[in-house]
Amino acid sequence: MTAQIIDGKAFAASVREKVAGHVTRLKEENGITPGLAVVLVGEDPASQVYVRSKGKQTVEVGMNSFEHKLDADTSEADLLALVEQLNNDPEVHGILVQLPLPKHLNEDLVINSIAPEKDVDGFHISNVGLLGTGQKSMVPCTPLGSLMMLRDHHGSLSGLDAVVIGRSNIVGKPMAQLLLGDSCTVTIAHSRTKDLADVVRRADIVVAAVGRPEMVPGDWIKPGATVIDVGINRIERDGKNVLVGDVDFASAKDVAGAITPVPGGVGPMTIACLLANTVTACCRANGLSEPEGLTA
Ligand code: GUN
Repeated sequence: MTAQIIDGKAFAASVREKVAGHVTRLKEENGITPGLAVVLVGEDPASQVYVRSKGKQTVEVGMNSFEHKLDADTSEADLLALVEQLNNDPEVHGILVQLPLPKHLNEDLVINSIAPEKDVDGFHISNVGLLGTGQKSMVPCTPLGSLMMLRDHHGSLSGLDAVVIGRSNIVGKPMAQLLLGDSCTVTIAHSRTKDLADVVRRADIVVAAVGRPEMVPGDWIKPGATVIDVGINRIERDGKNVLVGDVDFASAKDVAGAITPVPGGVGPMTIACLLANTVTACCRANGLSEPEGLTA
C-alpha cells in the first residue's frame, strides 16, 4: 500500500482562505477588523523567523498585525505591563507571546497574565481547563490543525484507536483531549512507555510529537493507519542539512493509509490555525456567531 500524502500546505491555504472570507465579512458587515498582537522578547533567530511569518500571514488575510519587539533584558514587570495593555486594547483580539522566553522571565506567569479570551495559543490554564472539561476554549494551534486534517480525512473519528506519542503541554496533552472529544480511544505514550512498538501497532491514528528524528519506523504502523507527524527535526544526511519528522517517512508511507510529510504537513497548519483562532476570538468578543469549520 502507498499512503495518501496529506498536503498540509494546500490545507493551510484553504484554512487561510476561509479566515480571509470571515475577515472580509467582519469588516463589511460589522465594521470590525480582527487584530493579532505578537510579542517577541530577545533575538532568538528561529523565533524571529516565526514572528515575521506570522505577521506577514496575518496581514495577508486582512487582519491587523501588531508586533512588539522587546530587548532580551526586558524586566518581567515591563513585559507584564505590555500584556496588560494588550488585554485592555479593544483592537487586539488575539495575543501571542513567542516562546521560549529568556531565562529570567517566568513563562507560566506571563502566559497566565494574558486574558484567556485573547489567548490564541490556548496555553492559559483557563483554556487548558476548559478544553479538559469539554467546554468552549481557545485550542492550541498545532493540535487544532492536526485535528482538522484528521477530520477531513476520516469524517468521523468516533471509536477509532488513537495513540499520541509525546506528552507536552503544547501538543501531546491537548491533542489527546481533542481526540477524546471526538470519541477516539486515546493512549498517550512517551519516553517511558513500555513496548511502544506494540502500542503504536494497535492504533488507527498515530500522532507523533516527541522531537526525535525518525523514531517511529514503518513496521510499527498498523496497515492503513493515519499518521500525523508533528516532528520538525534538523539532521545531517548525505552531507546535507535536512528536515525530518518523528516518523520514518520512507518506510511508513508504504504501510500507512495516509500520512503527513515533513516539511509540508502539520507545519503550515500551525500559523493557519493561529489566524483561525484570532477570528474566533474576535467573533466571541463581539458576540457574533463563530466561524464554522475553524474551531474544535
Ligand atoms: N514557539 C514555537 N512555537 C510556538 C507557538 O506555537 N506559540 C508560541 N507562543 N511560541 C512558540
